[in-house]
Amino acid sequence: MEIIRTPVEMSGWANKVLAAGQTIGLVPTMGFFHEGHLSLMRKAREKADRTVVSLFVNPIQFGANEDLGRYPRDFSRDSQLAETEGVDVLFAPEARDMYPSEACTRVIVSGLTDGLCGASRPGHFAGVTTVVAKLFHIIKPYCAVFGRKDFQQLAVITRMVADLDWDVEIVGHPIVREADGLAMSSRNTYLSASERQSALCLFRAIAHARRRVREGLVEAEVLLQEVEWLLLQESVTIEYVSFVDQATLRPQAVLRKGAVLAMAIKVGATRLIDNDNLFEEH
Ligand code: PAJ
Repeated sequence: MEIIRTPVEMSGWANKVLAAGQTIGLVPTMGFFHEGHLSLMRKAREKADRTVVSLFVNPIQFGANEDLGRYPRDFSRDSQLAETEGVDVLFAPEARDMYPSEACTRVIVSGLTDGLCGASRPGHFAGVTTVVAKLFHIIKPYCAVFGRKDFQQLAVITRMVADLDWDVEIVGHPIVREADGLAMSSRNTYLSASERQSALCLFRAIAHARRRVREGLVEAEVLLQEVEWLLLQESVTIEYVSFVDQATLRPQAVLRKGAVLAMAIKVGATRLIDNDNLFEEH
C-alpha cells in the first residue's frame, strides 16, 4: 500500500490509473478505523479496480467548541488496517496542503443541511461538502462509499453530486454495530464504561420504534414521545429525535416507506448520533 501525502502526488497517481483504463473507488475518512470503516473499504474494493482511502481530520467541519483538538488518531494502526484490507493508497494530506492560506472557496448545499445535525453544528456540512468535493477532484473516483451511520451526510453528498452533474456513484453502506447494538464510531473511545452502557439507549429506541411500526403505529408524534421517554431513562440529554424522509430529510407526520428515525444525544461530554430506516429489513 502506498501512503501519499500531497494532493499533487495523489492527483498524479489517479491520472496514471485512469490512463491505464482502471477505475478508482474512494472511501473518505477521518481515521481511527473501526469495523465500520473497514466494511466501507471492502465495499469499495468490490466496486472498483483500485481503492483509495483518504484519512484527513478535516478542520473546517468542526465548530469552535468541538473536539478537533482531541479527535482520536493512530496513524500506524490505521495504515496497518488499511493495508490488511487490500487498500492501494492511503491519502493522508496535511491541512496546510488541503487549505492553503489563500483558499476562500466553500461548497454549500442549502436546505438539506438546515435541520438535524446541521441545526446544532452550523457550518459543519459546508466543511464536509467542501472537503469531499476537493477529494473527488484530486482522486477522480468512479465511486465513493459512505456509511448510513451519517445518513444526513450521505443525503447531502448525494444531492451535491446530482446538482453538480458529477459523474461519481455515491454508494451508501449499512451501519455496522457492536454485538450489543451500539453503532461503531471513532468517538465511542471517549465513553467511560457507564456512559457506554447509557449509550445503548439509542439502540433500544431503534428496536422499540421498529417493533411499534411493525405493530402498525404510523403517527410520528406518538412514537416520538415514546422514543424520547425511552432515551431519558438513561442520564443522557437529547439534541434531537426526528422522523424524516431518507432523501428529502423532511419530517414525516405519518410514517411510511423511507421513514428514518434520526437521533442525536449527549452522553456526558460526548455527542452520539444514530438512525434507522424503519421500514427496511435488516
Ligand atoms: P468518519 O467519521 O471517519 O467516517 C468515515 C465514513 O465511515 C463515513 O462515511 C461514515 O458514515 C462511515 N462510518 C462511520 N461509522 C460507521 C458505522 N458504524 N457503520 C458504517 N459506516 C460508518 O464521516 C466522516 O468521517 C467525514 O465527515 C468525511 C466524510 C470523511 C469528511 O471529512
